[in-house]
Amino acid sequence: EVFAPRRNSQGFAMTDTLALAPLRQQLAALENQRFHASPIVGGQRRTGTAQPRVSPIDSRREIGSLVASDASAVELALNLADAAQDAWAETAANQRAAMLEKAADLLEARQAEFLWLLSREAGKTLPDALGELREAVDFCRYYAHEARRLMGSAIALPGVTGEANELRLTGRGPFIAIAPWNFPLAIFLGQITAALAAGNTVIAKPSRRTPLIGMRAIEALLDAGIPADVLHYLPGESGGLSDKLLGDARVAGVAFTGSTGAAWKINRTLAARDSSIASLIAETGGLNAMIADSSAHVEQLILDVLMSAFNSAGQRCSALRILLVQDDIADAVIERVGKAMQELRLGDPLQLETDIGPTIDTLSQRDLQAYCDKLAQSAKLIGKTPLPQGLENGCFFAPQAFEVSLDALPTVETFGPVLHIARFKSDGLEDAVHRVNKLGFGLTMGVHTRLDSTVALVRRLAKVGNLYINRNQIGAVVGSQPFGGEGLSGTGFKAGGPHYLLRFAAERTVTVNT
Ligand code: SER
Repeated sequence: EVFAPRRNSQGFAMTDTLALAPLRQQLAALENQRFHASPIVGGQRRTGTAQPRVSPIDSRREIGSLVASDASAVELALNLADAAQDAWAETAANQRAAMLEKAADLLEARQAEFLWLLSREAGKTLPDALGELREAVDFCRYYAHEARRLMGSAIALPGVTGEANELRLTGRGPFIAIAPWNFPLAIFLGQITAALAAGNTVIAKPSRRTPLIGMRAIEALLDAGIPADVLHYLPGESGGLSDKLLGDARVAGVAFTGSTGAAWKINRTLAARDSSIASLIAETGGLNAMIADSSAHVEQLILDVLMSAFNSAGQRCSALRILLVQDDIADAVIERVGKAMQELRLGDPLQLETDIGPTIDTLSQRDLQAYCDKLAQSAKLIGKTPLPQGLENGCFFAPQAFEVSLDALPTVETFGPVLHIARFKSDGLEDAVHRVNKLGFGLTMGVHTRLDSTVALVRRLAKVGNLYINRNQIGAVVGSQPFGGEGLSGTGFKAGGPHYLLRFAAERTVTVNT
């Protein structure tokens, strides 16, 4: 039973009208609902002044409200998480795992509400929202399974006669989980459930852009039986509160996903403490490339480029930013990418014909516009998706693709639907990989080729955490494609992989003279 096979969440196909019709009704019934987020500390929802939350689809549209965390909520969360730590670490791994599995069931049972929130608060299309919900469910079940596998019992080790040795894993102490807005359910819950599974109490900070989804996710965990003093929720503007959390000597570790710059800042704050050396697990940005040689299957390549660069409005850390195409096929590829971009449809994410929803907020929309305006001065615009009428009140940004020279590859991550395309010469494959490596990030890379020699060369040289050959390079699957990068892209270990839980655990060796 302990090692019962685990299955990923099944979901359904968007063409399955039997599954879709009742869901559509449930989603429609939610359209006028308002959600309310507030700090939850020790199981208590804190009160205070609520600020309205609006949707990126239409800034006039209120979808709920938020009471932000204050210093007293932070202090109380730290006190309670610290006090609850030992009992939680001593709770059997099997018991912790059962609670996470129950949470997975609750997420599935509350599917419509999460899909609605993912669409209305985070701008996700229905297929993206479903993909994210399934990933969140998979994380719960996967880390439950991993807790049983790794933490269920001690490992007996050899020793001299008259001596027994054993090694076991236990919790490290209170963890802070700091999640991004682009996967406000899956990454948010992935960090939290890994920390909980390993026997740590958790203080969860959602992105300030997605507190409503975070609230419902925490409620699912509490409803599933995670004790009220073990898990705390601190949404809202930080205003120094993050530094207070990170600077506290009782914090044993931080799981962070977000920008590389923010990870550096967290690292510095942790390093400045004159106390325990906290562990930092950071999953950060990417400047991800796809390399296509002249043997590539062009039709498949175009589909995978569009999916990798523009799905989720390019707001995935795995997304394709730089397409490197061998000279011989470059004209054909550039022309087809440009034409295909005309066919993509921006719009309301809950409409099935929509390919691309909004960016997360007006700030992001403005930054992308400024970036493209500047890039257009030195690079050739080769494709732009039309922006339909009627989206003016949302944070929509039309995907754009530019041809740049190999010597002018971008050096910073632009988090949205902007693609750079550069050509390389027939003898330039190795040089192309080296140029990508030199950018310093190391998250995803795609390769399109029918040559074994190209696959072998890129496999050998590419310094990336996730290499995808002859397919798109997004949407890593829990348990099948452990996800995470190296270099500027993060510390490892990989989320959804067999080593991740180890980063959240302490090891204890006991030697008994028998
Ligand atoms: N895990 C996501 C993906 O693979 C990115 O954050 O697309």
